[in-house]
Amino acid sequence: MEEALQQLKGDALADLDVLKNADDIEQFRIKYFGRKSPFSGLMRELGKVAKDDRPRLGQLANSIKKDLQDLFDEKRRSLVAAHSGDGDGVDLSLPGRTQANGKLHPVTQIMEEVCGIFEGLGFTVAEGPDIETDFYNFEALNIPPHHPARDMHDTFYVDDSILLRTHTSPMQARVMETQEPPLKVIAPGKVYRCDSDITHTPMFHQVEGFLVDKKVSFADLKGVLSVFIAKMFDDSIPIRFRPSFFPFTEPSAEVDIGCVMCGSKGCRVCKQTGWLEILGAGMIDPEVFKKVNYDPDVYSGFAFGLGIERIAMLKYGINDIRLYYENDLRFLRQF
Ligand code: PHE
Repeated sequence: MEEALQQLKGDALADLDVLKNADDIEQFRIKYFGRKSPFSGLMRELGKVAKDDRPRLGQLANSIKKDLQDLFDEKRRSLVAAHSGDGDGVDLSLPGRTQANGKLHPVTQIMEEVCGIFEGLGFTVAEGPDIETDFYNFEALNIPPHHPARDMHDTFYVDDSILLRTHTSPMQARVMETQEPPLKVIAPGKVYRCDSDITHTPMFHQVEGFLVDKKVSFADLKGVLSVFIAKMFDDSIPIRFRPSFFPFTEPSAEVDIGCVMCGSKGCRVCKQTGWLEILGAGMIDPEVFKKVNYDPDVYSGFAFGLGIERIAMLKYGINDIRLYYENDLRFLRQF
């Protein structure tokens, strides 16, 4: 019996030595540790040997089996490791490869949030060219050549009549020219002005909104913008419509919200006024309707334009607009 065990051990060690691949490993496992292994046979034989010898032989059998199992496990590990480089096996002990997740830029996130709110109110999205004609950027919006309002725009000109749009308002004319009322449209996009300091970058983003129908009133404008501001910031934020001027709206207003930095108490950001301007708006000027052949006696409408970077600055408490465009990952990762 003892001899048979030692013989088995010798055979197994010799077999173990020549294992080369996953198939060999599996064959060996079945041969020596499976149900029909020679160990099982010898264990049954154990019942027939002299009672005095039984414990000693049982222990010997167990220890041979355990040693063999350990050697086998080690062999299997080293074979897997050796093959992991050539794709033959997989080294399960290697750390996993993590995948870095990209994120949307904060300006894109706010843009999507703003558009989402207006889409929820039934507005449809229209997009137009960044490189625009003088006609759509100015003339169609009641800003004739040499009008003083042009000075406010710090325009980048491509040539005499082509420019980088200074606002998204040209989309009012482009949409009205091709569609009949009722209209309920937002136009998001990039705009350009030759200006750069802590509150201005030469390229920034606006969302234009306009609604044209019969009997549209300033109350409709107030209602839509109030809902937007409540959803974008919070229900309890104070809102103020302040008289202003734009050549393409009459009457015109700028809309302020209670300063989100100091809770309207007065601080550096709101220049001690307790208010922050967030958008321009008004009733579409009859002159704009005439340019697109809408009858101003039949139709009325409102328009508004808001700056995305500005809203994002107020929402996140950012004090320098240029941070958005430096692409410092430490800044961007916070959103
Ligand atoms: N286009 C204006 C601007 O850029 C904003 C505005 C849009 C005002 C629509 C009134 C109506 O300042």
